[in-house]
Amino acid sequence: MILEAAAEAFRDRQKFVLSLAGGSTPKKLYELLAKPYYQERLDFEKTFVIWGDERSVPPTHAESNYKMAHEAWLSKVAINADNIIRVPGEMPPVEAAKTYEKTLKVLFGMTIGLPKIDFSLLGLGDDGHTASLFPGTEASKETERWAVATHVTKAPHDRVTLTFPVLNSARRTLFLVTGGDKAGIVKEVLREDLPMNRYPAQRVQPKDGDVVWLLDGAAAEKLPNAIRAKASPL
Ligand code: 6PG
Repeated sequence: MILEAAAEAFRDRQKFVLSLAGGSTPKKLYELLAKPYYQERLDFEKTFVIWGDERSVPPTHAESNYKMAHEAWLSKVAINADNIIRVPGEMPPVEAAKTYEKTLKVLFGMTIGLPKIDFSLLGLGDDGHTASLFPGTEASKETERWAVATHVTKAPHDRVTLTFPVLNSARRTLFLVTGGDKAGIVKEVLREDLPMNRYPAQRVQPKDGDVVWLLDGAAAEKLPNAIRAKASPL
């Protein structure tokens, strides 16, 4: 899916912007992208990597989403350092969000409107959060800014996150969710009989983009047959 999106972006726009998820789930994906088959099919001159969110920690910190992706993938491929646009987690979160937003506006060459991320990879938290848009937070209500700081009582660190307007302007969005501990929240978020804003992840509804959920068997375990029937096994 990433290679398809990249090929289209290289062809049509000579630039592929990939937004990475944090947490632990995507580590295997990033390790896969480091393998020759994928390296050979990504033009790293035209590939730009950003993050959907980051913890307010330095890039060397064990909790850094940048650190995880850099160790699993980016340190193993010939991508220009300038093409990696990390959230400056070492800064105080509000300043980091402003700096990140400024850098993104330069990357997308725009000052008004919303950026169209070519491929937005997202995870799902067990409370239905995605990126660092947690239920009931001011960040989840932001309608103008591209990136904001957020204090999450249950999380050990403050965060910087892309906002819903940006996530909902993406061309392609992939939720990558694995493990039986996510089966309950996956079922809830994908229920069609619930209002579509109980959980932040439900509010990822790009106007002109598609959303794909890629689940392993364990994470899909509690899905009703009606939804399973619509699923296409890989
Ligand atoms: C983060 C992530 C977050 C993550 C979910 C799932 O910075 O934590 O961006 O949204 O995707 O919390 O995390 P796991 O993959 O570790 O379950």
